[in-house]
Amino acid sequence: MPPAPTTTRTPTYTRRHLLALQGLEAEEIRALLAATRRHANGPVSRQGGDGAPARSVGLLFFEASTRTRVSFTVAAQRLGLFVLDCSGPGTSAAKGETLIDTARTIESNGVDALVVRHAASGAAAIVSAHVKCPVINAGDGRHEHPTQGLIDAYTLLEAHGRLEGFDASGLRIAIVGDVAHSRVARSACAALRALGAEVIFVGPPSLCPPSMSALGARVSHELDPLIPDIDGVMALRVQFERAATLASAREYRALYQVDERRASLMKPGAIVMHPGPMNRGLEIASTVADGPRSVIRRQVEIGVAVRMGVFETLLTPAIG
Ligand code: CP
Repeated sequence: MPPAPTTTRTPTYTRRHLLALQGLEAEEIRALLAATRRHANGPVSRQGGDGAPARSVGLLFFEASTRTRVSFTVAAQRLGLFVLDCSGPGTSAAKGETLIDTARTIESNGVDALVVRHAASGAAAIVSAHVKCPVINAGDGRHEHPTQGLIDAYTLLEAHGRLEGFDASGLRIAIVGDVAHSRVARSACAALRALGAEVIFVGPPSLCPPSMSALGARVSHELDPLIPDIDGVMALRVQFERAATLASAREYRALYQVDERRASLMKPGAIVMHPGPMNRGLEIASTVADGPRSVIRRQVEIGVAVRMGVFETLLTPAIG
């Protein structure tokens, strides 16, 4: 009897927006990681081909950002997209204009996608309900930061030689610190679990309550027993601007800082990540952030590739 014909299914992402990683199928996440991979090692600039960028994207950043805003800008430019940056205190939001009115105003200028960062959870979803173009969530309150979650998943897979198939099964990662306020923790957990990894949230009960296990991660209040068995640790910034409080910074460092001692006890090949920006000397020791296990700079590099891939995916077939 002849063998059954094998079919190779190319993963696809067909949604209009990218608002969250929670709720996506593993194959949808793999499709976005495959789009990332096309750009991860020396993305090719398409600008200058015909000299006239055909499409444009609007950036609506109503909360501080360095790496996300810059990398969306670079990603768009490398794809030949015109960037309309309508961010910061210079907009009519300062005069009381609503986010929806601002988004509609930018859309009416002809943009083909909107990238939204906002301090309110759900802001990108609200915008997506009021505009016709694709909306990309660049971080909304403590809800989600899907492109950062893709960065974190890609970086972990790459470091462990798992890019073929984007299969993270058997990998164990600890996400440590201010989990409660972290949209990055939520997005990274969704992506890593969908790809088969085990995720452990670690931190003090005030910043990592047992209820976080609803996301499918194990919750632990002790870091040290986990250190020898994990394939990666991601330190999270303590988000003082979201009302995170520490009873004692000294005690927090002692129990949860990703420091040299802990890094030295990790397995060979285990990596240290941080989505940035970092509180150096608090959740992560400076020497570890810059040390041999750190892939933090690689996370930033991958940010451009992820955002190129997301633009291509949501704007296809018009780019290129
Ligand atoms: N990781 C991240 O979102 O960084 P920024 O706030 O600098 O964009």
